[in-house]
Amino acid sequence: MIPQATIEQIRQATDIVEIIGEFVRLKKRGKNYTALCPFHTERTPSFSVSQDKQIFHCFGCGKGGNVFSFLIEHERMSFIEAVRHLAQKSNIIIREEGGAGFKRDLIERISYANQIAVPYFENTLRQSKYSAVLNDYLKEKRKLTDETIKEFQLGLAGDEWEGLIKFSATKDISAEELVKAGLAIHNEEKKSYYDRFHHRLMIPIFNLSGKPIAFGGRILKKEESAKYINSPETPLYQKSNVLYGLNLTKDYIRHQNYAFIVEGYFDLISLWQEGIRNVAASSGTAFTLQQARLLARFAEQVYLFFDADSAGQKAALRSVDILYDAGLEVKIIQPAAGEDPDSIARKFGPERIEQLRKAAVGFIPFRLKAVDVSGSGIISKEKLIKEFDSIGRKIADITRRTLFFNESADALGVNVSIFQPSGAGKKENRHGQRFLVVSQKEFNPVEVGLLSLLFHNPGAIDEIFEAISPEDFDSKQLARLYSALIDQYRHIGKVDARSLIDNSGDPEFAALIARVASQDWLPEQVESETLSHARHLTDKKKKLIRNRLKERLAEAEAKGDKEKADNILEELKSYGL
Ligand code: CTP
Ligand code: MN
Repeated sequence: MIPQATIEQIRQATDIVEIIGEFVRLKKRGKNYTALCPFHTERTPSFSVSQDKQIFHCFGCGKGGNVFSFLIEHERMSFIEAVRHLAQKSNIIIREEGGAGFKRDLIERISYANQIAVPYFENTLRQSKYSAVLNDYLKEKRKLTDETIKEFQLGLAGDEWEGLIKFSATKDISAEELVKAGLAIHNEEKKSYYDRFHHRLMIPIFNLSGKPIAFGGRILKKEESAKYINSPETPLYQKSNVLYGLNLTKDYIRHQNYAFIVEGYFDLISLWQEGIRNVAASSGTAFTLQQARLLARFAEQVYLFFDADSAGQKAALRSVDILYDAGLEVKIIQPAAGEDPDSIARKFGPERIEQLRKAAVGFIPFRLKAVDVSGSGIISKEKLIKEFDSIGRKIADITRRTLFFNESADALGVNVSIFQPSGAGKKENRHGQRFLVVSQKEFNPVEVGLLSLLFHNPGAIDEIFEAISPEDFDSKQLARLYSALIDQYRHIGKVDARSLIDNSGDPEFAALIARVASQDWLPEQVESETLSHARHLTDKKKKLIRNRLKERLAEAEAKGDKEKADNILEELKSYGL
C-alpha cells in the first residue's frame, strides 16, 4: 500500500501536459492544449488538456479525467502502476506499507509476472548449455547483433518444465498467478502446473510505456509443433490492441509521419537493426481497427511491407480498408518473389528498402496488378466497381475520397458517376460529429451549462445551492455531480474540479466531471450566465409542477371530487401559478 501522503506528493510534482504529451501531439491553443483524441478517430482535434485544472477531456468521445485516469485508460495501467510510473518520473521514492513486492491488483500481478519473466528468459539464453541458440541461431543464422538482442530483450525458454514456476516462486509469484499471466498451464487432472513455454526463443511484447505484457515464443527446431506459441489474452494483454515494437518505434514514426507495417517480429527487429526504425509489426493477425487507430495517432501514412508470398499479399489487401477507415493513407510495397522484409534488410540493407518504398503503389494499381481490366467481362468489372466503391467509402476525407474514386474510374475505364456515393458525402460529417452529437444530446445543455458555471465559483453559488436541489436535474448522473459539488463546497468552501476528480474513485464519474468542467466561460460572462441558467432550470421546474398539478386537477374534476380539486387549486396558487 502506498501512503496517501506519497500519492499527494506525486500528484503535486506531476504536470498532466507533460505526461500526456508523451503519448499525444499536444498543441497550445489559448489556455489549453488540444490534440487529436487518442481514444477515438477524428480528423479535427477535440481532445483538450487543461494545465490549470490538471484534467483532460475529449469533447468528441467524452473520455476525461486526471493524469492517473489517463494512464489507466491509455496505458492500461492499474492505479498503483500509474502512481509508480509518475513517482519514477519525478524521482519520488515510494515506501510501501505492508511488505515489499506485495501487489494486490490482478493486472498488477500479471504485469509483475511478465516483468520478472523477461530477465529470467534473457539469463537462460546466456547459459552456456544454450550457447548454440545464441551463437548459431541468433547471431549466425539470423544475423542479430548482441546490441539488438539486448534492445529487444530476447530470451530463451529452456528445457525444464517448471523453470519459470520455480524462479517466480522466489519472487513471490505463485504458479496460479503465472497461469493468470499466461505463462504457465494448469493440468487439472494431474493437479499440477507447468511452464507454457519450452525450448522456444522468447520475444517479449511491450505496451506503449515499455512494460512487458506478453511473449511470443518461436520454435527452434522445425519439426515439432506450431512455429509460434504466444501468450494468451489476459486482462493486461489484448492482442487486437497491440502492435509489436511500437514502444520503441513510435517516436520515429511520429517524426517521419509514416510507418512501415510488417507482419513478423523478426521483420521488425531486422529493419530496426538496419536503421529503419519507423516500423510496427502486426504479428501475423488480421489488422484490426484498434491497431490502425493506434498507428493513426503517430503518422498519416503507412507502407504495407508484407511477405512476397500470396498469403502476405492477400493480408495486405485485407488490411487496406481498415487502414483507410482509421484515416491513414496506404501504400503497398512489393518485395521480389521469395523475399520478406527480414531477408531484404539482411541481404540488401536499408537502401534497397528505401527504393522499394519509393516504388510502392496505391491500393488501386496493386489490386489490379493481376487483372486484365479491358479484357474482363462485365460481371467481373461490376465486382471490382463494388469492391472499390465499398473501400472508397471508408475514406473519411472528402478530397482524398474524390481522388480515390477518380482514380478508380480511370483504372476501370468507367465514368466516375458510377461511384456516386449517395450518402458517402455525408460520411465526413457523420464521422466528425457522431460523437459530439451523442455527448451533447445526452444531457440537457442547461443542466450541463449550470454545472460548468459552478466550477467558476460564481458569486451566487450559495443561493443556487439553496434554490436548486439535485432532484431538479433530469439526468441522474448530473444530479450526482451536483450533489458532489454541494458536498465539496460545504467541506472546502469552493468548487474545484481537480480535487473532485482526484477523489471521485470512479473513472466514468471522473470523465463526466472533466467533461463538464472543461466547458469554458469568459470571466465576465460567469455571473450573468449562472443566473440565467439557474432561472431556466427553475422555470422548467415550475412548468413541470404546473402541468402535473393541472393534470391532477382535471382528473379530480372529472371524478367530481370537489375537495381534492380545491386542494390542488390552493397548491397551484401557492406556486404563484
Ligand atoms: N505468427 C503467430 N503464430 C504462428 C505463425 C505466425 O503468431 N503460428 C505471427 C508471429 O507474430 C510472426 C508473424 O505472425 O512474427 C509472421 O509470421 P512468420 O512470417 O511466419 O514469422 P516470422 O516472425 O517472420 O519468423 P521467421 O522470420 O522465422 O519466418
Ligand atoms: Mn516472416
